[in-house]
Amino acid sequence: MLESIAAAPPDPILGLTEAFQKDARSEKINLTIGVYRDDTGQTPVLDCVKQAEQRLLAGETTKGYLGIDGLADFKRLATNLTLSELVSHDRVAAAQTPGGTGALKVAADFLAKSARGARIWCSTPTWPNHTAIFEAAGLQPQAYPYLGADRRSLDLTAMLDTVEREGRAGDFICLHACCHNPTGVDPTTEQWAEIAELTAQRGMLPVVDFAYHGFGDGLVEDRLGLAELVAQHEELLICSSYSKNFGLYGERVGALLAVCPSAQAASNVASCVKQVVRSNYSSPPRHGGAIVACVLADESLKALWERELAQMRGRIHSMRRRFVESMKETGCETDFSFLLDQRGMFSFSGLSPMQVDWLRNEKGVYIVGSGRINVAGITLENLDTLAAAISEALAS
Ligand SMILES: Cc1ncc(COP(=O)(O)O)c(C=O)c1O
Repeated sequence: MLESIAAAPPDPILGLTEAFQKDARSEKINLTIGVYRDDTGQTPVLDCVKQAEQRLLAGETTKGYLGIDGLADFKRLATNLTLSELVSHDRVAAAQTPGGTGALKVAADFLAKSARGARIWCSTPTWPNHTAIFEAAGLQPQAYPYLGADRRSLDLTAMLDTVEREGRAGDFICLHACCHNPTGVDPTTEQWAEIAELTAQRGMLPVVDFAYHGFGDGLVEDRLGLAELVAQHEELLICSSYSKNFGLYGERVGALLAVCPSAQAASNVASCVKQVVRSNYSSPPRHGGAIVACVLADESLKALWERELAQMRGRIHSMRRRFVESMKETGCETDFSFLLDQRGMFSFSGLSPMQVDWLRNEKGVYIVGSGRINVAGITLENLDTLAAAISEALAS
């Protein structure tokens, strides 16, 4: 049987990373993959994480399995970080998951179990794994428009028109809480209020992807959209990732939080989520969840984390500003100041697939085909080279 299996296509983004690694040019620049990089182009281990790991190592007594839904402290602290005073925590069913992807997968399997074939609305564009995960679980992904014709700003009217016309009770809708991937375009708080009101009116259940909490404007600011949703919806799912905001990519830490109408419903949902996890990966990995719990439980470590997170956020903002200025200095006719309105690591640059190919082939600048750039991949060292190359691509 295995003899007849055809090869699956490579992941488009990871494929580019492989090509980048093989590229021998010394001035090559990688703006593809979704990880934070510091001024030196490294993805650092945060100090708060190092300190937590030392404490954990000193106090570790077992490598035993965690419970199916993870560490109790992690669940409590993750619920508090994400939802704070927005809802009573006894209405929340929480599970520690392997990354944000794990949270989305568990959420999708859980939803598909009680509503097989149900529709889930995703923005066009969205993170490609959304549709892949939802489809694999047995849900039917549907598309709602997100960007305007300029591909730089939100077309709220088009988005809401589709939801109004086609959304119906029993549908799910996937929303990016902040730092929309791949566009960097987020709704304003007022726009979130409209989205929340209409989706609630249509009886749709939000599945909120919260992969970049703290990377946009701050921990409180980044959940303003979520606050609007929670105010209008008595039930929704939140899939959080601690990969970016704690720099714990390979440790695989995430959380699924199901906000339910009552404590009883939350307890029932928690039992069903555990059933999904048990037949999937049985229980989450121990180390990453323990680090997050250790940091969030300790006032000084938490304060250090918030400072380090602010530093990462500040560097991304500053690279956006410097890139816009550098593009101006090259004499490029395109005004890139729209990048300043976008949030998080990603932005749609407006580069066409042909320009993206040209940049890779001629200049060793790697950008994904949609023109999405990882702003965190820009450093003071590569900034001028990058701006000159993009300016040339746009002129040619
Ligand atoms: C929008 C979005 N959701 C979810 C994830 C998954 O996060 P994790 O790496 O924690 O699985 C990512 C990661 O790139 C993402 O960009």
